[in-house]
Amino acid sequence: MLKAKILFVCLGNICRSPLAEAIFKHKIQQHGLGDYFQGDSCGTANYHVGDTPDPRTIANAKKNGVSIDHLGRQLCTKDLEDYDYVLAMDQANYKNILKLTNAADFAGKVALMRRYDPLEKDGEVPDPYHGQEKNFQDVFEILDRSMENFIQHLEQEYAVKRK
Ligand code: 4NP
Repeated sequence: MLKAKILFVCLGNICRSPLAEAIFKHKIQQHGLGDYFQGDSCGTANYHVGDTPDPRTIANAKKNGVSIDHLGRQLCTKDLEDYDYVLAMDQANYKNILKLTNAADFAGKVALMRRYDPLEKDGEVPDPYHGQEKNFQDVFEILDRSMENFIQHLEQEYAVKRK
């Protein structure tokens, strides 16, 4: 039944990528696609390994009706074998993913998250860590609309339909 595994990647794995993972899981459950797809997230850095997401991210997600359940972990080379899509939040993380030793074999799996943004395909998901609530809400809205479009892409790619 499982068709694809998706890994969302940012720097610290406490703001953007755990939110991306949570929105992805929320939407695939809502759409009845939970048997087909799995999501996880990680960071290119090791600063927050084992940490719960940033309290501001948790609060913002809750305000938007999404719950987060994740503990920080760092990206490792095996992730590029294990996952079908590795979606980076920004260019710096995209480049760092491709620096992993085996990345050349798997480069086709790696893309920027906002490739799926229906409004601005060339953008990055901005790091809200030093920002205010508005910055966290911007991140939520970017991820929410990008994820909807990404899930539609998955439905086509794997010929599955939402219920
Ligand atoms: P994230 O945000 O990459 O979206 O999780 C950050 C979180 C923490 C740090 C940087 C970015 N930090 O430097 O600790």
